Amino acid sequence: DKGGWTSFMAKEVSEGPEAVANTLRGRLVDDSVALELGALDDAVLRDLDRIVIVACGTAAYSGLVGKYAIETWARIPVEVDLAHEFRYRDPVLTPRTLVISISQSGETMDTKMAVQHARAQGARTLSICNTQGSTIPRESDAVLYTHAGPEVAVASTKAFLAQVIGQLLFGLHLAKVRGTIDDAAIAEVVGELRELPDELRQVLAEQDPIKELAHWMSDTRSVLFLGRNVGYPVALEGALKLKEISYIHAEGFAGGELKHGPIALIEPGQVVFVVVPSPRHEPLLHSKIVSNIQEIRARGARVIVVAEAGDAAVLPYADIVLRVPLTLPMLEPVLQVVPLHIFALELATAKGLDVDQPRNLAKSVTVE
Ligand code: F6R
Repeated sequence: DKGGWTSFMAKEVSEGPEAVANTLRGRLVDDSVALELGALDDAVLRDLDRIVIVACGTAAYSGLVGKYAIETWARIPVEVDLAHEFRYRDPVLTPRTLVISISQSGETMDTKMAVQHARAQGARTLSICNTQGSTIPRESDAVLYTHAGPEVAVASTKAFLAQVIGQLLFGLHLAKVRGTIDDAAIAEVVGELRELPDELRQVLAEQDPIKELAHWMSDTRSVLFLGRNVGYPVALEGALKLKEISYIHAEGFAGGELKHGPIALIEPGQVVFVVVPSPRHEPLLHSKIVSNIQEIRARGARVIVVAEAGDAAVLPYADIVLRVPLTLPMLEPVLQVVPLHIFALELATAKGLDVDQPRNLAKSVTVE
């Protein structure tokens, strides 16, 4: 039931705040995190020497955010592998490796096979999953359910937010167990996590500029997305969603990669979305992305910026600024991705497409 919405995707985007609140529920106690991970007890977590995140598509992009957060807080090497690339080679796995799978459906064949391979090699496995009782959690040592609620639209939206939250919770828990973070730092993140549902409601309340933008862009042929650090996976996700439901060619890049090739694509009129980190928390990254914006503007790009409220440094270079509330760097993707999800939704709608059932795609890819 679409509950009065024009599409399941529109409904699910609007459910982002509840998805995040439900994923956090019961897992924040006072100023700290409380996770129950069964077989992955403290002794096992202390002994780990490496983490590999396996997933596909949007779930894999959430894994890139997870990598930055877990490495920052728990000081353990984390790599992100597409599940199908992981299982069709011979990855190095030991009992001290934790393989974290991320899946909305819990049924994605590639991800399931990656988990089975990891277990057969003696690695530990944690499933971050949205669907209770699905296959992947059953085949893993432990599970952290995301509780985003059912996702019907083929394109994943609220589940991405919840996947990021699940990994942030795990990252904090792991860091606490391993003693790599102090209580004050945990308390600061926990405080900001509690604010996220309301901040998401603010982002959702400001959709009109995005709708207008989507309207004038409905015959655009190509859109680029740039980000750095945790903004990089946001750029990748923005591009995936656009190609998936609006059939517009879209690419996401890391800002630093621009001069290594992609800048050749910039010609007058090329639309580029830029995901901007907080100038308060990340002044260096911020100045780097501002120089990226200057480089592409100088070549005629039309620049649409996603930036935190109050960031005035981007104003001289942006054609349009989409604002998100202030938060901590690791939490920014949860807010920044929402305008990009709405943009894809509105553009596909402006083109008269079926946003819930894009051509050639299935919700759950249970075949190879
Ligand atoms: C994109 C999308 C897909 C899925 C991917 C993994 O909008 O929905 O890229 O994210 O197929 O699916 P799950 O999370 O069910 O394993």
